[in-house]
Amino acid sequence: MFTVEWAVPGTRVPELTALMRTAWWMADRTTGDVSRLLENSDLAVTVLHRGDLVGFARVLTDRTYVALLLDVIVDERRRGSGVGAKLLDSVVNHPDLASVRSLELVCQPDLISFYRRWGFTDQVGTSQLMRRTADSRLVS
Ligand SMILES: CC(C)(COP(=O)(O)OP(=O)(O)OC[C@H]1O[C@@H](n2cnc3c(N)ncnc32)[C@H](O)[C@@H]1OP(=O)(O)O)[C@@H](O)C(=O)NCCC(=O)NCCS
Repeated sequence: MFTVEWAVPGTRVPELTALMRTAWWMADRTTGDVSRLLENSDLAVTVLHRGDLVGFARVLTDRTYVALLLDVIVDERRRGSGVGAKLLDSVVNHPDLASVRSLELVCQPDLISFYRRWGFTDQVGTSQLMRRTADSRLVS
């Protein structure tokens, strides 16, 4: 019922923009932004339901030391149906990431237990996230 496809830059951009805009940190994205981010992401995975886009995630990586998982989002109407799990399974099992030393992400505290299912930990030693940003939503 749900199918996974690797996103092709330039396709489904309006649909993807609408899905992204449902999440607080992506609420102001335009089709132009989304088109450019797809062209410049290393991996982008979609989940479709009867041809409709219901889930998305993307990865930036050097394919050696580090990969950064970004913009994990599931259509509100399809949450709790395994779509997020399909996104995460697809990313963590992707052959391009098989020898990457660390897969990293930033999330809110209520999602820590979700990501733990795929081996992520919030035990990061004394590391602290630092950010230089023009986006005031991401600092407070
Ligand atoms: C987080 C999100 C991607 C999860 O997607 P989803 O399709 O609802 O997740 P699934 O149905 O695949 O859930 C897989 C498992 O994780 C669990 N789970 C789902 N959301 C969870 C949460 N917030 N916290 C803990 N566990 C969670 C489910 O109960 C399920 O467990 P089960 O296999 O034992 O039944 C989705 O809720 C979402 O898009 N949220 C808004 C955007 C967001 O915050 N993205 C994350 C950015 S870091």
